[in-house]
Amino acid sequence: MKLTHVSLLAASILQGVHAASLDLKPRKSSILINPPAQPALPSAQDAASAAATAGLNLTNIQGDILIGMKKHTELFLFFKIQNVKAFKSQLGAKILPLITSTTKLLSVSTQPTTAVNIAFSQRGLTALGVTDNLGDSDFSSGQFSGASSLGDQTSNWVPQFSGTDIDGVLLLASDTIDNVNTMLSNIETAVNGSVSEVYRIQGAARPGSEQGHEHFGFMDGISNPAVDGFSTPLPGQAVVAPGIILLGEQGDSTTRPSWAKDGSFLAFRQLKQRVPEFNKFLLDNALVEPTSSSSVSSIQNGSELLGARMMGRWKSGAPVDLTPLVDDPVLAADPQRNNNFNFTHPDLGTFVNHIIRAGIPYGPEVTNTETTANVSSTDATLERGLAFVAYQSSIGSGFAFLQQFWANNAFFHTVSLFATCNYNENSVGEDPIIGVASGDGPRHPGGLDPQDPTKVITINEDFVVSRGGEYFFSPSLSAIQNTLAV
Ligand SMILES: *[C@@H]1O[C@H](CO)[C@@H](O)[C@H](O)[C@H]1NC(C)=O
Ligand SMILES: *[C@@H]1O[C@H](CO)[C@@H](O)[C@H](O)[C@H]1NC(C)=O
Ligand SMILES: *[C@@H]1O[C@H](CO)[C@@H](O)[C@H](O)[C@H]1NC(C)=O
Ligand SMILES: *[C@@H]1O[C@H](CO)[C@@H](O)[C@H](O)[C@H]1NC(C)=O
Ligand SMILES: *[C@@H]1O[C@H](CO)[C@@H](O)[C@H](O)[C@H]1NC(C)=O
Repeated sequence: MKLTHVSLLAASILQGVHAASLDLKPRKSSILINPPAQPALPSAQDAASAAATAGLNLTNIQGDILIGMKKHTELFLFFKIQNVKAFKSQLGAKILPLITSTTKLLSVSTQPTTAVNIAFSQRGLTALGVTDNLGDSDFSSGQFSGASSLGDQTSNWVPQFSGTDIDGVLLLASDTIDNVNTMLSNIETAVNGSVSEVYRIQGAARPGSEQGHEHFGFMDGISNPAVDGFSTPLPGQAVVAPGIILLGEQGDSTTRPSWAKDGSFLAFRQLKQRVPEFNKFLLDNALVEPTSSSSVSSIQNGSELLGARMMGRWKSGAPVDLTPLVDDPVLAADPQRNNNFNFTHPDLGTFVNHIIRAGIPYGPEVTNTETTANVSSTDATLERGLAFVAYQSSIGSGFAFLQQFWANNAFFHTVSLFATCNYNENSVGEDPIIGVASGDGPRHPGGLDPQDPTKVITINEDFVVSRGGEYFFSPSLSAIQNTLAV
């Protein structure tokens, strides 16, 4: 026991002092995953030249914002500030040097062992004496007060998200949980009790060939937009002005305090997924394909087809618009083709409602017992889902818009905000995955059956349950240094 502690301590000192702050040791492998279906990150060089053209300072922008869903493991540590004066001084002296910028994250040779980002709730900014209005009412009132307009039942919320204790969140990402834990203990030592932990969620990419897929099995993060000044769009990929994601940049028309420039609002949600129940629903409502027989494999295929129609993409990530009746993993793995189709959305006019999805799955794989019973375990340690993260410069036109107006509004064509953030042209009515009908009654999405577009499938239960969350502001490195830490 003693020896283990000593060697852990030694390891943490070595890593904290030598690797993290001085970056002496180039890494051998990236701390990020890179599933072929997701748009690849730009090289550091390409990003630098795009940023120079657009006047973006990628060294000032926290790394998580533009990177998307590419972490092996990520810890979300929600904290309360206990001693403002001490915390401010540690924030500037100890935490800021650990904060990983976009520039650092892009190249394996400059990546730290564990990437660190930090973001603050309105309560946290207020505690720090930062009272400027950031120009976002969802952020300033907090997620709990808007829970009902998101369609949430707060009885399902994790109590810590309903409380008043969450001032901020630390995001620690690496390729191993050991690295994350080492960094966490370094930070705990550095902050010396000036903040306390309120809650934590440990996320991890799913194992093996499921890497990059969420717990229902669908490839995630494919349809993140390309941000002007950062990455070059792939065929069919939406392009957004930097100000749609970053405050104070071109495309952001809201008045902000100058120090808020290059920050972004982080909408966090803990979305529990009821995987065995979802799989049973798909089997029980399996669509009948034109060529089908009554064989077991045909039912399996019909259930896959229903899932694809609900999500707008097959599990591989191939869009149903391009391959309506069978999955096409080769197409899915080709970023030159897997977004190359036209969404038509006559209802909506200008499309500015973009977010960068940057979440990660949490919780273990489904157990055999759960699969056999078709029921999620009640054991809390087996809860699984998505630690959902969306970045945007306006929560009202980003995450909250997507949730309220597309997912919950039966009159709009729906977007599957849950996994792929696509329009799902096939489906009308509440979003079959995360939509919550008013009064929490059954949902009746139509248009899921390609053979019979008028057929309505009734969904009597929620496959995704919101366990709550919070809105945060992820400040620029210069804002941490010059505004928050002083
Ligand atoms: C970019 O941001 C970094 C970090 O805040 C800062 O040190 C640097 O001076 C900035 N560069 C420019 C050109 O503003
Ligand atoms: C840690 O905090 C305690 C009191 O909370 C204080 O006495 C001590 O000086 C602090 N240590 C450091 C290294 O700042
Ligand atoms: C099920 O789908 C697979 C893969 O697309 C296909 O090879 C197989 O023939 C299908 N089975 C039936 C019964 O349709
Ligand atoms: C999308 O629409 C544009 C404009 O109508 C057209 O030029 C383009 O070929 C379409 N792309 C696809 C993949 O259908
Ligand atoms: C699980 O669901 C499937 C599909 O409806 C069904 O065939 C099977 O009998 C169910 N198992 C149990 C234990 O209810």
